[in-house]
Amino acid sequence: MTELHLWLRHETRTTERRTPVVPSDARRLVENGVTVTVERSPQRIFPVEAYEAAGCRVVEPYSWTVAPLDAVVVGLKELPEEPGELRHRHVFFGHAYKGQPGAEALLRRFVAGGGALFDLEYLVDDNGRRLAAFGYWAGYVGAALAVLHHRGRLTAPLRPTSKDELDAELQPRPDDAQFSSLVIGALGRSGRGARAALMEAGLDPTCWDLAETRDLDRQALLDHELMVNCVLSTGPVTPFLTDKDLAEPRRGLRTVCDVTCDVGSPYNVLPVYDTVTDWTDPVRRLHERPALDLIAIDNLPSLLPEEASTDFSALLAPQLMEFGVAGAWGRCLDRFHETCRELGLENGESDHA
Ligand SMILES: NC(=O)c1ccc[n+]([C@@H]2O[C@H](COP(=O)([O-])OP(=O)(O)OC[C@H]3O[C@@H](n4cnc5c(N)ncnc54)[C@H](O)[C@@H]3O)[C@@H](O)[C@H]2O)c1
Repeated sequence: MTELHLWLRHETRTTERRTPVVPSDARRLVENGVTVTVERSPQRIFPVEAYEAAGCRVVEPYSWTVAPLDAVVVGLKELPEEPGELRHRHVFFGHAYKGQPGAEALLRRFVAGGGALFDLEYLVDDNGRRLAAFGYWAGYVGAALAVLHHRGRLTAPLRPTSKDELDAELQPRPDDAQFSSLVIGALGRSGRGARAALMEAGLDPTCWDLAETRDLDRQALLDHELMVNCVLSTGPVTPFLTDKDLAEPRRGLRTVCDVTCDVGSPYNVLPVYDTVTDWTDPVRRLHERPALDLIAIDNLPSLLPEEASTDFSALLAPQLMEFGVAGAWGRCLDRFHETCRELGLENGESDHA
């Protein structure tokens, strides 16, 4: 069996400070006989020296393109547009299996180069549960931003911060009015994060999950002043908010944070907007009189890069130790080939399968 060689790449997106493997986990991998090569990265939240001290080899950004073919390239988000042919096995969030813009072009590059995508979104256990996810911190940051906006204290543009700094901003001040808050999807990863942030802010949120929305009490929902949506919907559901609710004069709801951000999906539970917001303009007014403001940022965990990376890496590193073509990684690979075949890009298995 060839020795495992992981190649931690620099992220293309300049605002992406997270990393899927933090230095302490890189050290554990090295101690277990894994070769870990780390690309220098000006924006990564952990300095490259910490990886070097952990026994990793340090190389230049984008050098994965000339890495030995047996190296497994590990990242989080999109690859650069070049090279056109991807020859390696890549572990990252490809966003390529639901017909997203650019999805087919990305898969085509893999097929052309004989490489393979192991998509982190599809790294699941035998019961289909995600093995590594950023949800908790997405919910935490989303709820925190919603509270800060509701209290008139959110300043834009947003910038990456730490939990300590965020928590300091979240502390209630003596003249802050109490208000009601609701988390939907409260039992999930992001729901738990949202609840924790609201409690840190001195609030006592109402928590709804599947059981409470089965027979939706719309007026009870509209009576909450702040709502954080954290559901993961995989089938048709009654929308939680409609345009009619926005126009409802008795609506108490003033601030919504949609952590889910399912814009364009047929299962979207908040079909009252069609474009996400971002770090520059985090809040959009959806309705005047009564006012309703929306926060719908699709890269929330990037705002807490250290905490988000540390938790994610703790989940991913043990999986990376077992990297191969069986079990969870095998399912990832199957998914890649299935999608390529469905799109008519591939007939058989790739060289790496
Ligand atoms: N905005 C971001 O930056 C960001 C980051 C990470 C995840 N997300 C998204 O957040 C969503 C939630 O992710 P997660 O990791 O917390 O998922 P999860 O599976 O851990 O939790 C989802 C929860 O929603 C509940 N749920 C599903 N349908 C429901 C319904 N109709 N009514 C009430 N509850 C319902 C489930 O029972 C579960 O408790 C996903 O869509 C994910 O893609 C967004």
